[in-house]
Parts: sequence; structure tokens; C-alpha cells
Amino acid sequence: MEIVREISRGAESVIYECRLWGLRCILKKRTRKLYRNPILDSELNRERTKQEARIMLSSMEAGVNVPAILDVDLRNFSIYMEYINGPTVMEALDSKIMEPERIGQMVGKFAGRLHSRGLIHGDLNTKNLILNGNDLFVIDFGLSKHSFEVEDFGVDVHVFLRSLESVHPGLIEQVMKGFSHGYEEETREWVVIWEKVLEIRRRGRYVRERKTGGGDQ
Ligand SMILES: Nc1ncnc2c1ncn2[C@@H]1O[C@H](COP(=O)(O)OP(=O)(O)O)[C@@H](O)[C@H]1O
Ligand SMILES: [Mg+2]
Repeated sequence: MEIVREISRGAESVIYECRLWGLRCILKKRTRKLYRNPILDSELNRERTKQEARIMLSSMEAGVNVPAILDVDLRNFSIYMEYINGPTVMEALDSKIMEPERIGQMVGKFAGRLHSRGLIHGDLNTKNLILNGNDLFVIDFGLSKHSFEVEDFGVDVHVFLRSLESVHPGLIEQVMKGFSHGYEEETREWVVIWEKVLEIRRRGRYVRERKTGGGDQ
């Protein structure tokens, strides 16, 4: 395995582009947290690496496109996976290479498919979605978990919506129209989930107002 370059360095992990058996791939390696007890730190990193790889496999079995896992090295908290070419959904919405509604529909379909299996992505923002030709791929399962709580489904949708709001406020309506259709095709539960999303947003607003001293204080 040969490392080609470092792509990004987040709080939890470092991402490298690498070559394995002549194939372009990604190495995602969780970083040690110096503020944690070293033994506990290794244990946590191992568990989280295992969890991330497991949920990627379950997602693939559910029929959601995710990078193929090439290898998992629990001693080094590392996952080797297929490199997915193409723009992120954030970039695709900027460059208008596909109608926003169609993009939203694909994201909603995969979100619904994950949720109907009790899989929560945990960080469904427009940078963790890659368009490879006409196919959507979901990446970054670092915060994913199992749950059938409506609250957790709602948070996934809320995170996606918030990432649209910060960069593409003008496209929200079209993207979410598609999203709701895609989601509904998979689960028939959109109305309940959307109610929860609105509740989560009301709560967020309330907390922000309390913090800034605004609102009904
Ligand atoms: N399988 C992949 N194919 C192509 N690019 C990837 C892949 N995995 C990660 N990346 C790139 O690395 C970045 C960070 O990876 P990600 O898994 O989202 O980690 P983080 O937890 O640091 O956000 C992504 O935004 C993307 O640009
Ligand atoms: Mg990410």
C-alpha cells in the first residue's frame, strides 16, 4: 500500500488517497486523542472503526451505494475503501450539472432506505454525498449508528436541510421536494418524519434565543 497524498484532516480522522494493488483508494484512519487515557482511546477507536465498517456493509446490503470496503485494520483504526470519483452534492448543486430536485430525490431515497433498516447516517451533509455520473454515493459513516427512533431519523434529515440552508438557500424548496418523494418511495413515513424535523428546528431556535438573551425571556 502506497500513500499518494493527504486529502483531509478532521477532528476524528485523517483521509489519505492511496494505491492498493494498483487501485486508487482511500485510507481513513482515526486519530489518537491525547486527552484520553491511551488504553481507553485505543479501545474506543477500535470500536468506532468496527462500527463504521459494519454500517457501511449494512448500507450496501440495503441497496445504498457506498464505497466498497477493501480492508479493515483494527490495530491501526483504519478502513481502506474504494475511491469514488465525482463532485460532492454541494459542488453539484453549485455547478448545476443535475436538477436539484433529482439530486434531492436520490438523497431522500437513500436516506429512506437506510432508515427503514434502522441505520442512521449521523452526518448527512451535502459534502458527505458524492455524485459519480448518474449515481449517488454516500460516504463518511463515522457518526453512524443503529436506531429506529423517529428523533434519530429526524436529525439525519435536519442535518441535510441545515447544510443546504448554509450554502444553497435558494435551492431548498426544489431539493426537499425531491427528497420527500424519494423518502416516501422507501418508507411511507415522510409526514411523521417531517413533523419531527420541524419540531427539532423549533427546539434549536428556542435554545439559540435563550443563549442570545432574545426570545420570550
Ligand atoms: N471513498 C471516498 N472517495 C472519494 N473521496 C473520499 C472518500 N472518502 C472520503 N473522501 C474525501 O475525504 C473527505 C473527508 O472524508 P470523510 O469520510 O467525510 O471524513 P470526515 O469524518 O473527516 O468528514 C470527504 O469530504 C471527501 O472529499
Ligand atoms: Mg465528512
